[in-house]
Amino acid sequence: MEQSFIMVKPDGVQRNLVGDIVQRFENKGYTLAAAKLMSIPGEMAEKHYDELKDKPFFDSLISFITSGPVFAMVWEGENVIAEARKMMGATNPAEAAPGTIRGDYAVQVGMNVIHGSDSPESAAREIDLFFDKSEIQSYEKHVADWV
Ligand code: PPS
Repeated sequence: MEQSFIMVKPDGVQRNLVGDIVQRFENKGYTLAAAKLMSIPGEMAEKHYDELKDKPFFDSLISFITSGPVFAMVWEGENVIAEARKMMGATNPAEAAPGTIRGDYAVQVGMNVIHGSDSPESAAREIDLFFDKSEIQSYEKHVADWV
């Protein structure tokens, strides 16, 4: 089954949005496979955002993402990578539709509450960077038969 790496960023943790975001993914019908509240070491943040290292906002992105705890998760389910991106809304909250997480909760691109993998390759890389295999649960949820 497909898995995606989803992370509530420091602004989302500070604003008490973790519960709401977890609820949205549960309500949708996805299965939580792993979760932890953690502070991202600088080196790990740079690895995570490596493909953005030439962007002018790279340094501010790294200092933001390491500024406080994040809530890192692995969610599992059919098409979860693309569907999670829809649930999150556009990267720039000004362009995110109402009803999406960023559309409902964010104003500026530098603090846009949530990160989600953008492809199967990124998902595999990000899950491997943030989680040890022993932290990822594999289990059946029978409620999934009803959605
Ligand atoms: S880009 O430029 O198209 O590659 O960037 P994009 O894919 O839209 O965004 C990648 C991540 O960079 C963050 N971002 C920013 N952070 C701070 N300031 C500015 N101006 C900015 N623009 C983009 C954006 O939130 C994305 O973070 P993640 O965690 O991947 O969602």
